[in-house]
Amino acid sequence: MVLLTNIHWILVLIAVILSLAIWIYLRLFSLYSLPSNLPWAGVYDHGILSRPRAVLRSLLGTRGLLDESYTKYSKNDLIYVLPNFLTGPEVIIPLSMMDWLLQQPDSVLNQGEINRDFLQADHTMLHQKVITDTVHADVIRKELTRNLGLFTGDVIEEVDFAFRKAWGVDEKDWKTVGAYDTMTEVIARISNRVLVGLPLCRNEDYLYHTSRFARLIVLRSAVISLFPNFLKPFIAPLVTYTDYRHYLGMTKYTMLIWKQRISDPNQDDKQKSDYFQWSLDHANAERDPEERGSNMITKRLTAISFAAIQSSVITSSNLMFDLAAYKGTASLFDRIQEQISAVLETENGTWNKTSLSRMTILDSVLCESMRLGGFVSRGVLKAVVAKEGVKLPSGEHLPYGAKVGIQAYPIHYDEKIYPRAHEFDPLRFYTPGGHDNGDGKSKFSKNKRSPLVTTSPHFMGFSHGRHSCPGRFFASQQLKIVLAYVATNYEIEPLETRPANNWFVGSSGPPLHATIRIRRRRNTV
Ligand code: HEM
Ligand SMILES: *[C@@H]1O[C@H](CO)[C@@H](O)[C@H](O)[C@H]1NC(C)=O
Ligand SMILES: *[C@@H]1O[C@H](CO)[C@@H](O)[C@H](O)[C@H]1NC(C)=O
Repeated sequence: MVLLTNIHWILVLIAVILSLAIWIYLRLFSLYSLPSNLPWAGVYDHGILSRPRAVLRSLLGTRGLLDESYTKYSKNDLIYVLPNFLTGPEVIIPLSMMDWLLQQPDSVLNQGEINRDFLQADHTMLHQKVITDTVHADVIRKELTRNLGLFTGDVIEEVDFAFRKAWGVDEKDWKTVGAYDTMTEVIARISNRVLVGLPLCRNEDYLYHTSRFARLIVLRSAVISLFPNFLKPFIAPLVTYTDYRHYLGMTKYTMLIWKQRISDPNQDDKQKSDYFQWSLDHANAERDPEERGSNMITKRLTAISFAAIQSSVITSSNLMFDLAAYKGTASLFDRIQEQISAVLETENGTWNKTSLSRMTILDSVLCESMRLGGFVSRGVLKAVVAKEGVKLPSGEHLPYGAKVGIQAYPIHYDEKIYPRAHEFDPLRFYTPGGHDNGDGKSKFSKNKRSPLVTTSPHFMGFSHGRHSCPGRFFASQQLKIVLAYVATNYEIEPLETRPANNWFVGSSGPPLHATIRIRRRRNTV
């Protein structure tokens, strides 16, 4: 019996090793049926090992590959192939083909498929449907974004509570804080204030679990991507074990709220504006009983908390490092304060959607920081989902399953588009006098819209087109309030150099353990 079991194990092990070896061989050597006339980034000769070498280089050297191919190909209106060891090569088209890219129907080119693959979402996001349909984006657009105006006061209150806890109120001595850790705390608190509201958003155990779920997603999905599809269902539970624990940690509390909400639908309006209610309303409107169930709601809430928290944590940590390393931050903070006072004066001292939309320096600073530090290098990337493939405007045929798109990172660093592109210039996106309604649908001329929530081929921090980030209005509201609060209440000690971000394939993020030094301003406690 024991012997038999051992033999079984050995067979399984051999199968795993063999399939891994085949998989790696294919990743390195396969052309993926891409047109053979397209050049590959990082391939300089016809040597048999030159493409495998470029594919391997993508692991830690994607940034370099992007820099050189942008000049060599994209700037000359040429198409090239960007190797990606984890998720397969990407056909990168020049900016002139953006309209074509955006016009393709979802049944031909699909952006959601890229996200699904990148996050290995079928295995990391608890339920296939969480990523494969659009309920999320619908709830965010229709319920969350429409109700944002109601939350300005709540977010301000929570930002104050969060910073007092995370950064403290010492006016005398400088305090060293981990940017990433303290931003995790702040963003988890304020996001949950909106998503689940009081009192759950002050529950430390709940906060801990929501800010940890899928935090290392880039590494986890990288490990899962290393295995062939048929092995993933067995490998994934091991890799995502701690995430699942965090999910269970969250459901302890969210199930109670769900039960209460289902059994007692008549509550006052204030209590009703949170993620539970938005999804219930949405499910009722769509007559979709599965979406009303505790299973879907808690899983979706977990996934949306991940999307909301992790992306804003990275964005705000980048911001803190940019501000700390920028020589003019003290006077920038003065200007921000002046603008805030001027706006509040004409708005009767009220912080709401209108006044926030007029604090345009905040938009510019955030936009500039996101230009430099987007967490994915891609701007708009789509998978070919039409069985017969698709024909590029230049005539080449891409097969089913190929990936095609435009990378944001090299455009954000293009000197022709952004002079002195490597410098953090916080007022770069600031046009005096301009503002919008805060919903991107401004009646003002184009250059007066908020540059932060208005995506464009030149600013793709939230991607661009129909599938750009639906959460950007929510993110913009909370990040603007965070910046306003820091500029008003703290000083940041200048850093000699900005700690460099870490790159892994096409993702980049701030160093997790780097610190900044801060001090509370006098008379703000
Ligand atoms: C500063 C913060 C944020 C940044 C930089 C950001 C960035 C992005 C980007 C680049 C994409 C497109 C990904 C791709 O197509 O490959 C995206 C999609 C998405 N984001 Fe965000 N995001 C942020 C905040 C949020 C928030 C707060 C939420 C939720 C409330 C959210 C929910 C989503 C969802 C659901 C999608 C997928 C949309 C779809 O498939 O149509 N994001 N985000
Ligand atoms: C500010 O308040 C005053 C009186 O309290 C009111 O007359 C005025 O219309 C208000 N202004 C705005 C912009 O709401
Ligand atoms: C914000 O407050 C100002 C001043 O009280 C008011 O005029 C404006 O209509 C408010 N905006 C919103 C969106 O509530």
